[in-house]
Amino acid sequence: MGVGSDRIGIAVIGGTGFERILESRETVLIGTPFGIPPPIILGDVGGRRVAFLPRHGLEHSLPPHRVNYRANIWALKSLGVERIISTNAVGAINPDYRPGDIAIPADLIDFTKGRKYTFFDGAPVIHIDVTTPFCPELSSLLLEESRKRAPAVRSGSVMAVTEGPRFETPAEIRMLRALGADLVGMTASPEAFLARELGICYCPLCFVSNMAAGMQERVTAEEVLKVAERLRPIIDSIIRGAIASIPSERKCRCATPAGGP
Ligand code: HPA
Repeated sequence: MGVGSDRIGIAVIGGTGFERILESRETVLIGTPFGIPPPIILGDVGGRRVAFLPRHGLEHSLPPHRVNYRANIWALKSLGVERIISTNAVGAINPDYRPGDIAIPADLIDFTKGRKYTFFDGAPVIHIDVTTPFCPELSSLLLEESRKRAPAVRSGSVMAVTEGPRFETPAEIRMLRALGADLVGMTASPEAFLARELGICYCPLCFVSNMAAGMQERVTAEEVLKVAERLRPIIDSIIRGAIASIPSERKCRCATPAGGP
């Protein structure tokens, strides 16, 4: 069965508030072997069934290092989700980038340190291939929809993911820049890897909320929220456009990752 049927084929993981664009909403609580994720909101976007998972909870009470990433991805899989678009606030490390830019990253450097990273925690020993960490199909679709709507769109970016909840030090940002990172966020790992382990397509839609530490006077959560609020109509519209143009059959290889069981 492809998307477009009653099954929920597409999910959005992001900040609270996105549920407003879903029509005929209902909220479900789903238990998983890894715990209970935040309430998931089901609804229609342009006639397609979509699940929205507020990553930090409906009350924004879960910091990035406390998100139960395994429960979230497992719950979406159990709904039948095959594609996940995630929204991510990020700091810009690349000096050419600016707050307000949209970026569709192509790769990731994982600097998180205390999370549950895998569903393959015992025998048989599984090593999943992440040569292409983000779904190429979703990523070109998001890029196309972003270019129609946003004034500045970056592609091919390398995203570093840090543990948080604090922002980085200037020396950490210099290190990440030297390693080739253009952006820094706190949630794409292990989200992207867990999705790949379960054969789900995953791609982040990033928006630059600030220049990273040491590149502007200070970094504050207020600024991140303010930029998120300002960009919300563009982000909503990109996601709507992407959902409308997702083909029903997947041609990528995310469903059967090399190294998988
Ligand atoms: N660092 C990490 N995560 C972020 C940032 C940042 O500067 N801005 C928004 N999310």
